[in-house]
Amino acid sequence: MLNLTYCEKIKYELYYYPNVGVKIMTDTINNIPPINPRKVDDVKDAWDGIASDFSTDIDVGKIVGDDRKGSSLVDIVNLFTNRYDAIRKILRNQCGFRESNTISEVDKEKKRYRSYNIIGIITSSRRTKSGGIMIEIEDKSGVMSAFVRKEDSASQSLLVDDVVGITGSYGKDSDIFWIDRVQFGDILPKHINKGGKDFDPVSIAFISDIHMGSKYFLEDTWDKMMKWMNEDELAKNIKYLVMAGDVCDGIGIYPGQENNLIFDNAYDQYEMAARKLDLLPDHITPIILPGNHDAVRPAQPQPMLEHTIQQQFNSAIHTGNPCRANLSGIELLAYHGQGMDDIIPKLDHVTYENSIEGMKEMLKRRHMTPQWGERSALSPEQQDDMVIKDVPDIFVTGHTHSHAYEWYRGVPCVVSSTMQGQTDFMNMLGYASQKGFLTLYNIQNREAKVVPFHANDDIDF
Ligand SMILES: [Fe+2]
Ligand SMILES: [Fe+2]
Repeated sequence: MLNLTYCEKIKYELYYYPNVGVKIMTDTINNIPPINPRKVDDVKDAWDGIASDFSTDIDVGKIVGDDRKGSSLVDIVNLFTNRYDAIRKILRNQCGFRESNTISEVDKEKKRYRSYNIIGIITSSRRTKSGGIMIEIEDKSGVMSAFVRKEDSASQSLLVDDVVGITGSYGKDSDIFWIDRVQFGDILPKHINKGGKDFDPVSIAFISDIHMGSKYFLEDTWDKMMKWMNEDELAKNIKYLVMAGDVCDGIGIYPGQENNLIFDNAYDQYEMAARKLDLLPDHITPIILPGNHDAVRPAQPQPMLEHTIQQQFNSAIHTGNPCRANLSGIELLAYHGQGMDDIIPKLDHVTYENSIEGMKEMLKRRHMTPQWGERSALSPEQQDDMVIKDVPDIFVTGHTHSHAYEWYRGVPCVVSSTMQGQTDFMNMLGYASQKGFLTLYNIQNREAKVVPFHANDDIDF
């Protein structure tokens, strides 16, 4: 059993808006980063495939957010135990990291110069004068202190709640356990996702953060995209449209929101979304997951939208957040991305503008809310569905209102663009969102294309 006192510090907090430091973003639609697949199979004409010629094949798998046991401390401890067990299994079976001993055995033996392998969860960390970090690490047998030297990159990136393998030893003259290596449950460098000629020549389109019902919703941009989807040759290739959360702006999400709404009723907001989606051509199936603005509980994992709201939509597939779905044989991991609010303040190289770096950190740690208990709320379900147990064939997030497409260790990662304009709140932060980019990913040739529907002007803050 993991230490109860550790879990007592966990807080439940509602998330309003990001409020940490962000830099000014000056990208324009002409400045989209190059999109290079890790590997393209020898397939031709994958973009010429007509989606209506191929069957719609969707398996949304387990719907998260409906197996909460309770909210007691024991339930929270069970959740963390489940996280520990799941990532330990990844470290052992996928990364080849085996413990030599448990923490209590190491603590009892403390043999000088002997190298020990331990798997544990980081319960605290403190930077020392030397620039390294002193951590507390815990497994089911006990807790120990260990030191990461400043030369080790892990001294800049380890987060509380990370489950990692450590290799280290006790020195001659001290009781300090010196860490020589930190092993994350990372994806193997030679991994490559599924794709190629065994898969249909069709694409998946990604957009998120539509925020219908908000007066900042870019209706002209959305309508332009819908027209394109009905008329453009490239759009005939699209089989699925993944909408990664914040479909509507919601009600009471942040103080004063009522001043920014066109509809102050959630059902009216979803009615608008449903009627807009009725205009999609038949060969495109929308897949909707909720975000922190949608009409479901904010604690993650979030269940899917309530039945009454689902009934307003004619053809959409609804899932929880995060969602693990199989689309025509491709394993999609779609997550709205609230965990980014806890990663960004902790890791210097991750910002709201380049949240793609945060996605890489999630994959590396095998967890979508690796640092928990500060901003993003978590629900103690029977199992921790925020763990990335199996490597997905494509990973998408939204939430940050930025946009990017990059590969990480054989996995294409998409930061879905938004259909909400620049809000007063973003102006206050000096943060320019990346609006109106539709990302297409072809499941056969593993290539992506980005179609811009909005002129993202530089903003002079
Ligand atoms: Fe959003
Ligand atoms: Fe969001």
